Amino acid sequence: TNNPKAVIVIFGATGGDLANRKLYPSIYRLYRNGKLSDNFAVIGVARRPWTNEVFRDKVKESIENFNDTNIDPDEFASHFHYNPFDIQDLEHYEDLDKLINELDDKYEAEGNRLFYFSMAPNFFGTLAANLKSEGLTTTKGWTRLVIEKPFGHDFKSAKELNKQIRETFTEDQIYRIDHYLGKEMVQNIEVIRFANALFEPLWNNQYISNIQITSSEVLGVEERGRYYDGAGALKDMMQNHMLQMLALIAMDPPIKLTPEEIRSEKVKVLRALRVMNEDEVDKYFVRGQYDKGIVNGEELPSYREGNGVDPESNTETFVAAKLMIDNFRWAGGVPFYIRTGKRMKEKSTEIVVEFKDLPMNLYYGKEHETKSNLLVIHVQPHEGITLHVNAKKGDYNASSTPITLSYDNKAGDKMNTPEAYEILLHDCMRGDSTNFTHWDEVAFSWKFIDVITNAWSKKKADFPNYNTGSNGPKEADQLLLNDGFEWWDVT
Ligand code: BG6
Repeated sequence: TNNPKAVIVIFGATGGDLANRKLYPSIYRLYRNGKLSDNFAVIGVARRPWTNEVFRDKVKESIENFNDTNIDPDEFASHFHYNPFDIQDLEHYEDLDKLINELDDKYEAEGNRLFYFSMAPNFFGTLAANLKSEGLTTTKGWTRLVIEKPFGHDFKSAKELNKQIRETFTEDQIYRIDHYLGKEMVQNIEVIRFANALFEPLWNNQYISNIQITSSEVLGVEERGRYYDGAGALKDMMQNHMLQMLALIAMDPPIKLTPEEIRSEKVKVLRALRVMNEDEVDKYFVRGQYDKGIVNGEELPSYREGNGVDPESNTETFVAAKLMIDNFRWAGGVPFYIRTGKRMKEKSTEIVVEFKDLPMNLYYGKEHETKSNLLVIHVQPHEGITLHVNAKKGDYNASSTPITLSYDNKAGDKMNTPEAYEILLHDCMRGDSTNFTHWDEVAFSWKFIDVITNAWSKKKADFPNYNTGSNGPKEADQLLLNDGFEWWDVT
């Protein structure tokens, strides 16, 4: 078969819940769905002195609820091996290399090695350097690196991090994960836009009045207070996931569907983002932090009362922004409104494209209910597309009323659509980097975000300023009202 063969080495296999919640289940699903041959092994690497048995038990626990009788969990888990490891100790690299070779022979993985860095980024430099100096990156097959966010915390640190890993891996070998790019409906943006004669001709400043991208969450920061308090919504969501969706929505059609062409079009969008001066930031950006609130009869604490959070924290848990893209397609004033926040009313990610009104519409007036045309891309939890148009009301008059045309991606036999991590892991093993972020994308997005971070760091915010269970601070609504728009509540 053409299914990928590889030894996957996961650094940080015991820590964090990413591995348990996402990685092992994804590998399992690939295996179950026949997307992975039997020619694979996973090596869990971390400090703790675990044994293969302990590791395999964890892996089996993480896939427990699949309950698939066709797959023997022990058989699956037998592909997993554990290797206790000290990043500083060069001898450990030698042992790891031996184990990789051994498993490579056993599973006939053709010398392909996938290194997965799932640990604190301050170790990435040392780890990458040692992997190279000890010869682990020289093999007869391919070598690739998958790297988790956060990729730096500003442009400078991202550049430094990039420099360190580039000492060992070429850009082609680096797969920077942004799990939003593995979401089915995010990948669908390009198809909807470029496979339909209906949208692309209208997709510009002449026919679109504004675009809204919202990703709201119900959960607070939960157990991640320590990480989150040093990051905030701007760095945690906006710099990566939100700007990635923006790039896909705003980009020009690529010449071909190759990773190079697609990513270079996305880079052009990020390059065209209007960079603001620090003193303009308040006009374009709103920050928020959640206060306590009652949800389903349960009183939930404010952000500042959370675990690992500074009681006077100035960290934002909500951002709303108005972005302008200064290129031929969007110049002249098509605002892109973006918002994301924790502890909001619902868990939902949605993109709303609002079209301009007709220059002359006969169906205006008090007997008509004509509304703007909207194209809504529902990313999650519901996956689908809705087109809002106007049609005749079913009565004696020729008056108009809004109707919707909907497509539900999960309808029919599609219940089993793959998960983001599963798709991305599969892509990486096939050598397709389309849905991973190129260094240039990371660089331009940080440069844009840095201005906001700097402006905000100089002024203490008036936090908390929105209630748990709400849609964020009222300033976020004002941001649109100032332009004569409103956030569309389309769910
Ligand atoms: C992660 C952020 O990248 O994305 C989290 O670090 C956030 O804070 C998560 O909760 C949201 O992802 P999803 O797939 O649940 O929308």
